[in-house]
Amino acid sequence: MAEASQPALRLDIQDGVAVLTFDLPGSRANTLGQAVLAELEAVGTQLAARIDLKGLILRSGKPGMFIAGADLRELGAAKPAPEATRQTIRRGLDAIARFESLPYPTVVLIDGPCMGGGLELSLGFDYRLAGSHPKCEIGLPEVKIGLIPGWGGTQRLTRLIGPALAAELICAGESVNAERARQLGIVFDAVPSERLMEEGLRVLAWARQSDDWEAVRRRRRQPIGLSEEQLTFTAAVARGQILLKTKGQLPAPLAALEAIVRGCNLPLEDGLKIETEQFAPLLGSPISRNLIAVFFLQRGQKEPSFADPSIRPRQVERVGVLGAGLMGAGIAGAHVRRGIPTLMLDSNAQALEKGVAAIARVMQTRIEIGRMKPPEMMAAMMKLSTTPNLALMSDRDVIIEAVVENEKVKTQLYRDLQSVLRDDAILASNTSTISITRMAQAWKRPENFGGMHFFNPVDRMQLVEVIRGEQTGDETVATLFALAKQIGKTPIVVRDCPGFLVNRILFPYLNESLVLLEEGADPRAIDKAAVDFGMPMGPITLNDLVGLDTSLYAGTVINTAFADRAKATRILQELVNAGRLGQKSGAGFYSYAKGSRGADDPAFAVILERTRTGRRAIDQAEITDRLFLPMLTEASRVLMEGIVREPGDVDLGLILGIGFPPYRGGLLRWADNQGLGQVLEKLKRYEALGPRFHPTEQMRRLAVEGKGFYGGS
Ligand code: NAI
Repeated sequence: MAEASQPALRLDIQDGVAVLTFDLPGSRANTLGQAVLAELEAVGTQLAARIDLKGLILRSGKPGMFIAGADLRELGAAKPAPEATRQTIRRGLDAIARFESLPYPTVVLIDGPCMGGGLELSLGFDYRLAGSHPKCEIGLPEVKIGLIPGWGGTQRLTRLIGPALAAELICAGESVNAERARQLGIVFDAVPSERLMEEGLRVLAWARQSDDWEAVRRRRRQPIGLSEEQLTFTAAVARGQILLKTKGQLPAPLAALEAIVRGCNLPLEDGLKIETEQFAPLLGSPISRNLIAVFFLQRGQKEPSFADPSIRPRQVERVGVLGAGLMGAGIAGAHVRRGIPTLMLDSNAQALEKGVAAIARVMQTRIEIGRMKPPEMMAAMMKLSTTPNLALMSDRDVIIEAVVENEKVKTQLYRDLQSVLRDDAILASNTSTISITRMAQAWKRPENFGGMHFFNPVDRMQLVEVIRGEQTGDETVATLFALAKQIGKTPIVVRDCPGFLVNRILFPYLNESLVLLEEGADPRAIDKAAVDFGMPMGPITLNDLVGLDTSLYAGTVINTAFADRAKATRILQELVNAGRLGQKSGAGFYSYAKGSRGADDPAFAVILERTRTGRRAIDQAEITDRLFLPMLTEASRVLMEGIVREPGDVDLGLILGIGFPPYRGGLLRWADNQGLGQVLEKLKRYEALGPRFHPTEQMRRLAVEGKGFYGGS
């Protein structure tokens, strides 16, 4: 926390040029909170009086960091009163306007993240120069937290690069690197970091001589003067893209577009008023607060839970991966991409070959979309080696096992490894359904055994559940947690139980979709309810994607473990018996013949008819309740049993693991936002369906106390 007495801004005058250095005390990032805005206002006033100056340069005092944006802790606070909202907006706008009207040219030197409010401030300067620091990233990501740029970003960026490009960047919340910013005209030039100051002074001198800075300001104040047709066309294209992406569920991108389109043909002053109109209702809105909460959840996963914080992770220099199938290859690929030497083993030579090809393919795709460079791929592939020979694993610090889901095969492999591995080596299984505590018995040092549960596809799924078995030691947990972070994943520590965290809560949802089908609901209606709720796909489609055999197997494990509340269905077994295994076999609930993305299939209808227990028309509201309420009661049980440490773990796990809509803040926050009293009312309606719809003791208690999972009242 910054001390109020310590200023964040330092002003030096060098040869008639003012150099303003932003260095927020006690923080790794520069952020724009109320205190800094007040300082900016004061410095702006002071500088306005200095007509003797030749120019102003703004820079950061932190290497590799410019300004990360507004202070999200302030923005994420409880819904501010409308007057306070206006004041926050006004304050930022005023501070920027002060710099914008200084009586001499101004330049910003950007050599690190320049995001949100940081870019908005920079856009009030006459020129921006970007440095070559790899962290130099420029953008207006406000829509990602349910807001729009509210300090002039929608207006000034549009005047700089035009409404089409501005809408593309702002409505998607995308950022660009220094070079791209130069191409787009967001920065005047991109230069090596060490030359930034020198170039800044040169630009100032040139601007003064040429009077270009005054022309820059004139252009910015004026309407951009697009024809009505051009503007309507731009707006329609952008709107289409936004709706496709957000399915109309998020208001911020549309509000940003509105501000851009309605403001750009007006003088800047009037455009800013339109932006404020669009911004004000979003600030403190439930969606924005939820998204900010999720942002902090993700940032909060710094230390592993359930482990003594004084125990440090072990240094991991070499990793081994057992199994080169779908998951093994994904896991090995994730490690080599972060430069960790990885030895991948498979008993099947062909599988090894395929695994290497799969790893290369993922990187090739990243190159195609500009997220990796060929030399980086070369370097990563050099870190990968393969073998069919277990003995070569002897020098590995951590081994991640991802062979077939068969307990006997896995434990036999562990026994074979006993004599090969060092005594202190850590072994982690990627199993989805087998008990970590039980398998630890097959390992010579159970404290060095844990779970590391990745999600498919590994290169795109950020979550890793670090599974703590009964005997797993703190050092093992800390090491697996740190390793997951090292390869860019978000780990959550979960105590061993069937399904761990994510699958344990996902299966009641998948299972209920089958119960609903058998009661008479249409598969499309079930999928639609889930998608309208915000899930990336419906449960029926998800089953087809996972594979019905896998789903049947995992579902059986979980339903057996929690038999008191699992409702048996027949449809999945029938489909598997008919050889319909989902997408991979060309048909499951839907048909995937000839590259179809899931067509209705009369053969499925015949099977469904046989398993139907009813013919009731079920409306969307009931489908939604029925899908999500059993997840909620299960999540409450997970908390009561101490499977994870806190509600945030559940919410983050479901957002990252199954795509639960982040704008709802997660499953438990969704319940809290409704109020547990309300949730209990809803559950009462479905009470007769069985214990999966009965509130837990925890839920009843919280409802009586007027609290939520996250506390509060
Ligand atoms: P897979 O069938 O694609 O690959 C398994 C590989 O293990 C095969 O290449 C096979 O040749 C190899 N193998 C079998 N026995 C072996 C042995 N004794 N020694 C060496 N290699 C052996 O399976 P997949 O999908 O990659 O799953 C692997 C593990 O990951 C399983 O435990 C599974 O439950 C878990 N998992 C799977 C997920 C998925 O979505 N497929 C998600 C998360 C975990």
